[in-house]
Amino acid sequence: MQYFIGIDSSTTATKALLMDETGQVIGVASSEYGYETPKPLWSQQEPDLWWQATIQSVSQVIKESGVAADDIKGVGLTGQMHGLVLLDKEGKVLRPAILWNDQRTQAQCDDIRSRLGKEKLVAITGNDALTGFTAPKILWVQQEEPDIYAQGAQILLPKDYVRFKLTGKYATDRAGGAGTGLFDVTARTWSPEVLEALGIDPSWLPETFEGTAVTGTISPQAAALTGLAVGTPVMAGGGDQAAGAVGTGAVVEGVVSLSLGTSGVVFAATDNPVIEKNGRLHAFCHSVPGKWHLMGVMLSAAGSLRWFRDTFAPDEDFGDLVAAAADIPPGSDGLLFLPYLTGERTPHPDPLARGAFVGLTVRHSLPHMTRAVIEGVSFGLRDSFELMKASGLATINQVRISGGGGKSPLWRQILADVFNAEIVTVNATEGAAYGAALLAATGAGAFNSVEEACASIIQITGSTAPGENVAAYEKIYPLYRDLYPALKSTFDAIAEIG
Ligand code: XUL
Repeated sequence: MQYFIGIDSSTTATKALLMDETGQVIGVASSEYGYETPKPLWSQQEPDLWWQATIQSVSQVIKESGVAADDIKGVGLTGQMHGLVLLDKEGKVLRPAILWNDQRTQAQCDDIRSRLGKEKLVAITGNDALTGFTAPKILWVQQEEPDIYAQGAQILLPKDYVRFKLTGKYATDRAGGAGTGLFDVTARTWSPEVLEALGIDPSWLPETFEGTAVTGTISPQAAALTGLAVGTPVMAGGGDQAAGAVGTGAVVEGVVSLSLGTSGVVFAATDNPVIEKNGRLHAFCHSVPGKWHLMGVMLSAAGSLRWFRDTFAPDEDFGDLVAAAADIPPGSDGLLFLPYLTGERTPHPDPLARGAFVGLTVRHSLPHMTRAVIEGVSFGLRDSFELMKASGLATINQVRISGGGGKSPLWRQILADVFNAEIVTVNATEGAAYGAALLAATGAGAFNSVEEACASIIQITGSTAPGENVAAYEKIYPLYRDLYPALKSTFDAIAEIG
């Protein structure tokens, strides 16, 4: 039997997943860490945390499984996207990595837009300049820490720092590359035009690979620390969203994945590059070779419901809270909720956007408000679907749901009704680490393609069809859509207060 490992270096932990050649998960180990917020809006992490956690989780999963290192035929990498790791010419880390959720770079985003023009930027990179992306972080170090920038020689993404420590090679995957804001998303490689406009030396960027390609092999030093065998191939893998989509089988056009965790991500695989003309959806390369994907990111999805429970009903069990909302009619008797509790990314890239309940009357109760929160988040996610359809994605046949919010039958029904689409659950629940292991297994020849791997392993375990409330939600959705433009100037003014 052959085995494969997926390593996911997320913002809070590194997870190592060991899988056999049939796709069965043999073991999982993880090791946690924190990140620093030394100033408001800043979010940083020491790259060594990812490496130490990789050593710990990989050696643990191998040891506990009893699998021989020589039988592990490939390692796939995934992790948090967009973070900036800056190294000097000896490969030494020059400053803490600036993470995807760092918001310090608004001025650099404006700078990027003015240097390239927004239209050209979106046409080349598939995306607008966003504070989370890597490109504005590079400009920030150029402008704010010129002494550090002057020592720079190499730029990596977080999981590619782990790759460097495992193999000694500088490389990245094309899904991750596309998330930097420096990529020509159609050509699937770095954009010379963008690099020149931003004054970034192309030799600082790693070579890019498709998700299943071998990028290097385990070095003797890394083997001694992790328990992997010297020479084991390390495949490119993918950014956490693309690898997570492989892990739920969102690898063919028409199948959309919806991850309903603290944030909510709507992800659609596409056979060709599809770019939303205003850059409100992310258009990235998929980690499936030769494919692309569109993505909408809502920052407070199930996180909105958690905030609501913690604030208004801290003693209530989630299940009971949500069950009571089932008796409330669609539209919550005229109560709407806007879920921008931590600003928003899609469809309104606006860090100043705020949450709101609109339409409150004395007859509204806790269950009304609960239902309004669930409906508001569902409408916000539908915004991403609408942008996808308007951008030319012809078919959305099925939505594969994952994450904590997807465990609620009521929420799945409301989503099916709001989207007017079938919502299904699948048997694979390990997310990005599992997707990375599947990419490694495909690269090693255990499957002919990623699509074949997913089709043979990932099974549908449940389905929710649109029901009798579709028409009601069709009438309420436009009212929700009107709220953000109506409140935008108020949000800007409120930001002055606090
Ligand atoms: C994707 C994104 C997050 C990070 C952290 O665009 O910002 O998924 O990769 O997980």
